[in-house]
Amino acid sequence: MNSSKIKCIGVLTSGGDAPGMNAAIRAVTRSAICNGYKVKGIYRGYDGLINGEIKDFTTEDVSNIIQTGGTILRTARSKEFETTAGKKKAYDQLVKNDIDALIIIGGDGSLTGACEFAQMFDVPCVGLPGTIDNDLYGTDSTIGYDTTLNTITQCVDKIRDTAHSHERIFFVEVMGRDAGFLAQNSAIAAGAEAAIIPEYNTDIDQLQKFMERGIRKSKRSCIVIVSESPKCGAMYYANRVTKEYPNYDVRVSILGHLQRGGSPSARDRILASRVGLGAIEAIMQGQRNVMVGVKNDEVVYVPFSEAIGKKKPISPELIKVLDVLSI
Ligand code: F6P
Repeated sequence: MNSSKIKCIGVLTSGGDAPGMNAAIRAVTRSAICNGYKVKGIYRGYDGLINGEIKDFTTEDVSNIIQTGGTILRTARSKEFETTAGKKKAYDQLVKNDIDALIIIGGDGSLTGACEFAQMFDVPCVGLPGTIDNDLYGTDSTIGYDTTLNTITQCVDKIRDTAHSHERIFFVEVMGRDAGFLAQNSAIAAGAEAAIIPEYNTDIDQLQKFMERGIRKSKRSCIVIVSESPKCGAMYYANRVTKEYPNYDVRVSILGHLQRGGSPSARDRILASRVGLGAIEAIMQGQRNVMVGVKNDEVVYVPFSEAIGKKKPISPELIKVLDVLSI
């Protein structure tokens, strides 16, 4: 599809919701309308696309949402879209609804789906990084990450009050799936004693390393932030401490889905607004199969293959900051 032939743009949110997705929907809609495009909102992610849950969007449809969490378009993790038949149904709906280009706001799973879809059909697809996990390569931050980091920090501040009063070790489990950005940076922000992150689970016994530093030399309570994991989450480490260091009083706090809710931070609203505008500019320039990100304070276009194919590293400097400052 030639970029000059694009008249109508569809927008959807997919995967886990993230604070700031509404700001992104608003930015995409308003900037598209401003540039003469029609906009259609697609509900419930790829499932809604397959089922034709599509509505014409005006600027009023996105009024008064920049400050709200969740996504007004709803979201889903579509199993059907993973199949070739599902993708074909989605394509048929785009044709039926005269949608010429698609903007997908979501995380790595959603952008992987978009990448495969774009390879199968001649539909320009542009992705926006919408995930609290911050695990997309090529952008310094993802929409929702900053808000969640602040939410976790506020929670840990509260947990510290009781940890200190009872002189306990708290293992606080945070989201992030396979990425430790939330754990590492919330540990720094909340002044926690350690973070246990998936990036370092392979080669080091992170608990042993931490205990061997002699946590009780100068402190009587401590907080360890643990990235969620089916096998070695906060419960796993708490059980180990109970067995291996029986004279410590241990508690666990799993923050769960409260981390995904709430009004987006100013930083997330600004990021969402910038990449939303960037997505429409990408379409106007004839770009396709790219994720719009912000790197070193500049809007950048990252090919899908890089955004989802490359692992975003946790800087060793962040590990050092926490190690040094938690003595
Ligand atoms: O990808 C965002 C995320 O919040 C992850 O951090 C977490 O592992 C996952 O989604 C939880 O997904 P669900 O809400 O489907 O349980």
